[in-house]
Amino acid sequence: MKHKNLIDLEYLTKDELKQIINLSGVIKSKPEVYKRACDGKIMATLFYEPSTRTQMSFQTAMMRLGGKVIGFDNPMNSSVAKGENLKDTILMVSGYADIIAMRHPSEGSAKAASIYAKVPLINCGDGGHFHPTQTLTDVVTLYYEKGRLDNLTIGLCGDLLNGRTVHSLIKTMSHFKNNSFILISTKELSVPQYIKDIMDRAGCPYKEIDNLKDAISELDVLYMTRIQRERFASEEEYEKQKGVFVLDADKMLLAKDDMVILHPLPRVDEIAIEVDDDPRACYFKQAEYGMYSRMALIVLLLRQENAFSFDTPEPIIDPSRKCPNDKCIVKDPQQYYLPKNIYKKDGKTYCDYCDHIIE
Ligand code: NCD
Repeated sequence: MKHKNLIDLEYLTKDELKQIINLSGVIKSKPEVYKRACDGKIMATLFYEPSTRTQMSFQTAMMRLGGKVIGFDNPMNSSVAKGENLKDTILMVSGYADIIAMRHPSEGSAKAASIYAKVPLINCGDGGHFHPTQTLTDVVTLYYEKGRLDNLTIGLCGDLLNGRTVHSLIKTMSHFKNNSFILISTKELSVPQYIKDIMDRAGCPYKEIDNLKDAISELDVLYMTRIQRERFASEEEYEKQKGVFVLDADKMLLAKDDMVILHPLPRVDEIAIEVDDDPRACYFKQAEYGMYSRMALIVLLLRQENAFSFDTPEPIIDPSRKCPNDKCIVKDPQQYYLPKNIYKKDGKTYCDYCDHIIE
C-alpha cells in the first residue's frame, strides 16, 4: 500500500481534523512527553520558494520531537540548478529522509511530487494553489482562540486570487456547520472559479465585496492577506493592487469585541502596526500554533495512522487532456514525464494537479 501524504486537507473528516487539533493542544501543554517521538528520524525540507514561518516551524517542530533536519531553501544551491527534474530530486531524497516537507512555485507540484515520493510528503505551498499546513495552523488557532469552528462569519481580505492560504482555508471551513464567507477584494483579485465551486458544493453562503469598512462589523473572523507580488505578470499590475485594503485602528472600532484577526504572515502594509496591540490581533500567536500543529502532523504521518484519511483518490488518466492553467506544473517543460491525470466532479472535469477546470 502507498504511504500517506498531506497534499490537501480535503479528505480528512471533521472528526480526524479535531483529533489533530487536540493532539496539537496536548503537545503544546505537555511538550516533554513528545520530545523523543521522532528519535532517529530525518525530515527533508525542500523549499524551492522563500519561506520563514513554514520552513522554520517545520524544522523546529522536527527538532522538538527529537528528529533531525536536512534540506535546501535555495534550489540554486542544489542540483536543480543543473537541470534536475522534480521526479529525480524526490526519488533521491526519499532514500535519505523519512519524511519530506516541500514548497514549490508551480501549482499542483505537491501532487506531482507525491507520485514519486517513497516517504510521506507534506505540501508546504504549491504556487498560488493550496497551503494545507497553514490551514491546519489557522484552524488550530481558531479552535483555541475563538472556541469553535462552526457558526462563523469569516471575512477574507486581500489577494484572494493568488493567496493559497485563502483557498485552503475556504475549502476546509466550508465543511463546518453554518459558516459563511465575505470575500473582500478588488475584482481583479477575486477567488478563482474552482474555489467558488467548492463553496457551492458545500452549500456555504458567500458574498464578494470590495470594501473592508462595509463588512467588518459583521465578522467573527477577519483573515487578512498580503498582495502576492511574486505572482503578478508585471510590477505595474502589482502597483495597481497594492495598498487598497489596510486594517487600522479606526476600522477596528467598527469590529465586534470578540472578532479574531488572523494573517498567515508575512505582513507588508495591510495591517497597520497600531493594530498589533489590540487583544483581537492573533497573528503572532497563530505563527506559534503553527509549530505545534506541525508537530502533531509529523507524529501522525510518521506513524502512518490508518485511522486518518490523508490520501487523495486515484485519478483518471486522459491522454488528450490539456490543462488551461499556465501556472500548473504540467506546463513546465522540465516535468514532461508527468501522467495526464484528471478527475471529474458534478459533471465538470478538473486537472488532478492544480484543480483548474478543463473544458
Ligand atoms: C503564506 C504563504 O507562503 O503562502 N505564508 C506562510 O506560509 N505563512 C502567505 C504569504 O506568503 O503571503
